[in-house]
Amino acid sequence: MTEEQEESIDLDAKLDEMLLNMRLPDPSELQARIDAIATSDDLGEFHKDHLGRGSVIAKELKNLGKLPDEQRKEAGRRIHAVRQDLQRRIDARQEAISIQEKAGQIAAEGIDVTLDSRHYSIGSLHLIQQVIDEVSDIFIGLGYKVADGPEAELAWYNFDALNTPKDHPGRLESDTMYLDYGDPADEMLLRAHTSPVQARYMEAHEPPVYIVVPGKCYRNDTVDASHLPVFYQIEGLAVDSGIQFSDLKGTLAEFARQFLGPRTEVRLRPHYFPFTEPSAEMDATCPSCEGANTSCRVCGGSGWLELLGCGMVDPNVFDAVGYNPADVTGFAFGAGVERLAMVRYGIEDMRHFVDNDLRFLAQFPG
Ligand code: PHE
Repeated sequence: MTEEQEESIDLDAKLDEMLLNMRLPDPSELQARIDAIATSDDLGEFHKDHLGRGSVIAKELKNLGKLPDEQRKEAGRRIHAVRQDLQRRIDARQEAISIQEKAGQIAAEGIDVTLDSRHYSIGSLHLIQQVIDEVSDIFIGLGYKVADGPEAELAWYNFDALNTPKDHPGRLESDTMYLDYGDPADEMLLRAHTSPVQARYMEAHEPPVYIVVPGKCYRNDTVDASHLPVFYQIEGLAVDSGIQFSDLKGTLAEFARQFLGPRTEVRLRPHYFPFTEPSAEMDATCPSCEGANTSCRVCGGSGWLELLGCGMVDPNVFDAVGYNPADVTGFAFGAGVERLAMVRYGIEDMRHFVDNDLRFLAQFPG
């Protein structure tokens, strides 16, 4: 035997002795104890004792540094093998305990998994609001802004600023709902149309003006299929230098096409409004029958539907708000929002809008 050989036998013996002296636990012997553990907390304690900082395995790992190179490798391999084996056994037990604990928790909380979950039904905007939004969007696309004004209004803005004669029937109590009588200067009423906002807006802004004004209006009307005492209008006003009647017709024809369909045609019939001159009512071809059905439910067979009132702003209105009629011209229009909705969707009774019947409302989810 050479000296070298002798030395290597010597080393092997040392290694064996060292490994024997390592006080490593045998994981398979611990299995029975692991199986007996019933809770996550207890298993956590067991983990700490056997793999934690103060554990035998941790101590032996620390000792590795003191061993000569040849021994360190083998000893390290053994320690890691034991550690991994033990960790696997603990993990498997943890999985089983977790399932049991979850089941126990569900039983304790009494959750009945057969109970139907709650259903939250999501509502939608009212059809009137949908139409207001759609009409506003069409005019925003044409460069208009949206404006608004008060519903409790001075008679001045509702009538006088709008060139309405003192003896106009609209001023009667039988037509308009008054809040406060008095001097013409502070007589208060519930506005009968959205037109007072024309005057308010022009007073507060320099021309050019391009606005639409959606809002609630009030009239002393009895409820029937075509009247509600509280209803909605959308007003339009365009004031600039050189605006002509052809601008009115072109703009409103474009609105009708966007709102009712690209084949829609319009016609203007002479009419009277105190604040426009000349004035007109605008009809559109019936989107439902397009004039082809003499018994059409929507247009009554005429092929035409009345859509809105309009006209060129009367110079007296410009005077009342401080604009110079020599500098600017303009047109205005006003449409009943319920009317627009009825024409568009073939609704035959205005009362549907306020009945709050879900069978009606649910047909217009938006
Ligand atoms: N304000 C009018 C109405 O309520 C409608 C209208 C507005 C007419 C603007 C012409 C110009 O009937």
